[in-house]
Amino acid sequence: MQEEIASTSRQLSRRDVLRAGGALAVGGVLGGCATATRINPAVPPAARIIQDPAQVATTPASAGAAMPLQPRDKPTYVAEARDPVAYSRADALFWNDIMMEHSGFFVMLMPGAELAAERREAEQFERTFAELLRQSSGIARDNYVAFNRKCISEARRLGEWKKRMQQRQASAQIHSLVWPLFFEHTAREADRYAARLEQYNRGSIELDRREVVEFWGTTMGEHSGFIAHLLDPNERLLIDQASKLERAFLRQGLRDVPGDEVMKAAREVLDFKTIGEKGIRNGHIKSIIHPSLAAHVRREAVRFIDELQRT
Ligand SMILES: [Fe+2]
Ligand SMILES: [Fe+2]
Repeated sequence: MQEEIASTSRQLSRRDVLRAGGALAVGGVLGGCATATRINPAVPPAARIIQDPAQVATTPASAGAAMPLQPRDKPTYVAEARDPVAYSRADALFWNDIMMEHSGFFVMLMPGAELAAERREAEQFERTFAELLRQSSGIARDNYVAFNRKCISEARRLGEWKKRMQQRQASAQIHSLVWPLFFEHTAREADRYAARLEQYNRGSIELDRREVVEFWGTTMGEHSGFIAHLLDPNERLLIDQASKLERAFLRQGLRDVPGDEVMKAAREVLDFKTIGEKGIRNGHIKSIIHPSLAAHVRREAVRFIDELQRT
């Protein structure tokens, strides 16, 4: 059986998988048909064959847990228990890494002498969150409140910087390769991280389903838009799939969609990202998506599913 799956996997190119069945009429949330997002119905079964279990797994953040340096090896940390210490540790390990990576993406996307000052600021944030990430391993009952305060302050500071850059890029005061929406998106993630830590410091870990669907639904929709715009223009079928996901997640009223349909949509976007990450890494998919960005958005989808399950 293992061999059969491995051989099928070898025969399938990622793009062929995504092309397969492209002509099928599908319904979606509104039509109640094959996929929740109108994505090609071949994607979920193909993902079962192609994806590594580690791409979709969560890892309980136990005491002393650390984050590896290589994006492909990074676990998606989640809380191992229902208490503020466990949630603080899991969020610090997950989000300090995410904040560090955002800063790294800005460094990549702010080239040349004219952006040297902004790039230096981004590099400084990258170092700050690398250090916070390193310290996150030491979170314990007697220090989590104070450590959370430190993370809240740095996440808020980075969020403000991202919003300032968003305005400067949108008003043509800087000409970086970062879309205004990418600054806005990553600022929202910084603010959401800070807001969750503030909640833990008040002793609450509750997740509100409507907030989870609103925040992560918007996040998944915008990721899909980013992917559509970063794929090689010749990857028309993949761009079409990404745009379908974008529309499905950014439509009005997602918060009111029944839970199982939202979960189905979340799994579909994760499947698309797991296949995409492998195709980008091995050159089967043409794009300017850095493998670390592909892994980043995939881990955020894993987090979405985990939080949905906890609501
Ligand atoms: Fe992110
Ligand atoms: Fe994101």
